[in-house]
Amino acid sequence: MNTSSEFVSWFRSVAPYVNAFRNKTFVIGFSGEMVTEETFVNFIHDVNLLASLGVRLTLVHGARPQIQLRLDESQQDTLSVMGMRVTDPAALQCVKESVGRVHHEIAALLSMGLPNSPMANASIRVASGNFVTACPYGVIQGVDLMHTGKVRKINAAAIHSRLEQGEVVLISPLGYSPTGEIFNLTMENVATEVAIALHAEKLIFLLDAIDTQVFPEDQSNHLPRELTVADTRLLLANAASATAYVMPDSTQLAMQCAIKACGMHVARTHLISRHNDGAILQELFTHHGIGCMISQEPLRSLRNARIDDVGGILQLIEPLEAEGILVRRGRELLEIEIDRFTVFEHDGVILGCAALYPFPEEQACELACLAIHPRYRDQGHGNRLLQHIENKAINQGIHKLFVLTTHATHWFIEHGFKTATPTELPKTKQNLYNYQRRSKVLIKHLSAQS
Ligand SMILES: CC(C)(COP(=O)(O)OP(=O)(O)OC[C@H]1O[C@@H](n2cnc3c(N)ncnc32)[C@H](O)[C@@H]1OP(=O)(O)O)[C@@H](O)C(=O)NCCC(=O)NCCS
Repeated sequence: MNTSSEFVSWFRSVAPYVNAFRNKTFVIGFSGEMVTEETFVNFIHDVNLLASLGVRLTLVHGARPQIQLRLDESQQDTLSVMGMRVTDPAALQCVKESVGRVHHEIAALLSMGLPNSPMANASIRVASGNFVTACPYGVIQGVDLMHTGKVRKINAAAIHSRLEQGEVVLISPLGYSPTGEIFNLTMENVATEVAIALHAEKLIFLLDAIDTQVFPEDQSNHLPRELTVADTRLLLANAASATAYVMPDSTQLAMQCAIKACGMHVARTHLISRHNDGAILQELFTHHGIGCMISQEPLRSLRNARIDDVGGILQLIEPLEAEGILVRRGRELLEIEIDRFTVFEHDGVILGCAALYPFPEEQACELACLAIHPRYRDQGHGNRLLQHIENKAINQGIHKLFVLTTHATHWFIEHGFKTATPTELPKTKQNLYNYQRRSKVLIKHLSAQS
């Protein structure tokens, strides 16, 4: 960040997220591999930072490589069925030792505060406990998985009460049965069930490998930035085909968890790469994020504007008004005319708008104030907004759409408009035509198929 103005604009862009996330519950799942890396301490700092901003955090860790190491040290072979380890009583001993060690190491790191910052002495309290009730996985392909289990129940009330005390809850991949047995679980299973039980706002998985692309339309190489649950199902179903993007097993597993969580009222699941330093901060505090976000409903929508959109529309159009690209409209006029506007919204932010003004006597409509945020242009959003407006006009029984523009003549021509003269405008509009501005007049005759 070079200049103070960059700092100020960065701070302003981040502040709304800080506000939105305060007192929200996030569940973060990460693997045992991550714990072994030098950069893990940076992740823990980021967790401390989130906690200090009032996010209610539950961390669920894995311990697969640590368990494997312990098994190797004690020269134990374990059987695997369909990717799942059979945990016999001897292996369970290794599981308990490894998980316990990892758990304590994480708790110790979380207790560090933020070195070299005013938060150096901020002590974040870590809570652990028997929050997870488990049951045996059972017998698969004739093999008893013994102490390999799955989540049966989460004690959500107990976790909530710790979160309410401002503590960070740390949960291991071990579960306990009412009969006093211990079960070896997967981090993914525990994190998903905890997120569902807590009605978490977000379930976040830090994965080994994940690439996301910038444009969701092109699914050839990487995961899109955003997926609905339906898209995710489709992607998983196609994953087996030869031409599909080759998805690592861990990504596929996390996607299955996302489908389950989002289907059970977890608002969003984020899949992000654990290899990017500060990945979690980038994902949460930037509009675009860096991972793949899965939600039940699409985050983009075209909808009629509401009075509370006025601020967002003004932010979008004021710079264009200042450049003389759009005619100036004050807040008051916008408030009066808000029913004429359609907005293109993405994740609560207005990225585009357009207005439709009817001239019923002349059987015509004016398209005005069409604008897409500069960072989101050339992705077809302008085209979609125009089509939406055209359909709106057609639904009102109007088939003549005109627009006045100073900077986008060719764009409209490429979208079927023809140049015209001010005398072809409805009479009342002709009277208002500003000859100094010399806007180009363009008209499109709409057909029912628009
Ligand atoms: C005009 C505008 C709405 C287009 O939005 P968009 O989301 O970028 O449009 P699309 O993605 O559907 O179309 C992009 C294509 O149009 C082209 N294009 C964008 N603006 C253009 C312009 N002013 N003139 C000519 N072509 C333009 C792009 O180069 C791109 O071409 P390509 O597909 O060959 O690469 C947007 O540029 C904008 O907000 N402009 C400022 C406001 C304005 O002039 N509004 C019109 C007056 S009401």
